[in-house]
Amino acid sequence: MTYSRITGTGSYLPEKVVTNHDLEKTMETSDQWIRDRTGIKRRHIAADGETTSDLAVHAAEQAIDAAGIKVDDIDLIVVATTTPDKIFPATACTVQRKLGSSGCGAFDVQAVCSGFVYALDVADRHIRTGGGKTVLVIGAETLSRIVDWEDRTTAVLFGDGAGAVILQATDEQGIISTHIHSDGRHEELLHVPQGASQGYDQTRAGGAYIQMNGNAVFRKAVGALDSISRETLAGNNVAHGDLDWLVPHQANMRIITAAANKLRMPLERVIVTVDEHANTSAASIPLALDIAVRDGRIKRGQLVLLGAFGAGFTWGSALLRY
Ligand code: UT7
Repeated sequence: MTYSRITGTGSYLPEKVVTNHDLEKTMETSDQWIRDRTGIKRRHIAADGETTSDLAVHAAEQAIDAAGIKVDDIDLIVVATTTPDKIFPATACTVQRKLGSSGCGAFDVQAVCSGFVYALDVADRHIRTGGGKTVLVIGAETLSRIVDWEDRTTAVLFGDGAGAVILQATDEQGIISTHIHSDGRHEELLHVPQGASQGYDQTRAGGAYIQMNGNAVFRKAVGALDSISRETLAGNNVAHGDLDWLVPHQANMRIITAAANKLRMPLERVIVTVDEHANTSAASIPLALDIAVRDGRIKRGQLVLLGAFGAGFTWGSALLRY
């Protein structure tokens, strides 16, 4: 039986750090409000000219090193992103070129903050059905480019970054199961109204930036993370007490705490990075995973649940033995 397993992780954050105190100088907000409502203290912002593929390549290089493979070993590159470098080609193709690779398949997945879990689902099935032996899965975002910096209700929430994993074929169980869902009826609660097909009006009034009904999204996020966790544990006959780690999407500390409470996971077994990085959408889960692997919290053989929620709405999970 062929399974897929994470053999290396990597991540990257742009150099520039913007603290809540920095934001106090440019909009009517406060460090206290942002920390109380979200848990966020700071976020990283890409430099002018630094693109999603640049962030993705740094994270990918670390993951490739950690897995001890060569770029030429990669059979498929999947990039989860909401902020591609260009409308086309796929950012995955740009990443492929920048890594010095050619020939393998490369495409993007767009499931907003759930993108990495969706990409992992595709990559795992690709390996298990014999499509390839080594897949590079990346979540990378430059959300700062689609944030309305005049809208304090959204601007304080997001950041830029990238995380990556190398997934490889193995006969030991790694990825145990993945679960993905969406419900397009709630599109307008969280979206960027403009797009290639609808036409562009690159102005604030024209809707070229993130718009969100925060309260409604908050409630949906907590419910979806709870239901996806239950579905995943029940589907695998795993009790919540068996889990070593929960790696949730990093949108808001209050959402993470509520999801952990419902799962009866003490916060000591939940990986939290939202304070340092804010919400990096598709990058948030692989970034948090890499940080916890590198600082020694997540160890080989441990049982880890990834849980995601994002615009669409989309939500999903992966249960894996690291
Ligand atoms: O990946 C999924 C993406 N999104 C999310 O997960 C976000 C989910 N939602 C949330 O995290 C929360 O709803 C927010 C953090 C966005 C907002 O927190 P809240 O507790 O729901 O606050 P609120 O929207 O009810 O706003 C409370 C007050 C309002 O003032 P009034 O009307 O009570 O006078 C806002 O205008 O806070 C005000 N406010 C701010 N004040 C200072 C909103 N944004 C800010 C701000 N600084 N940045």
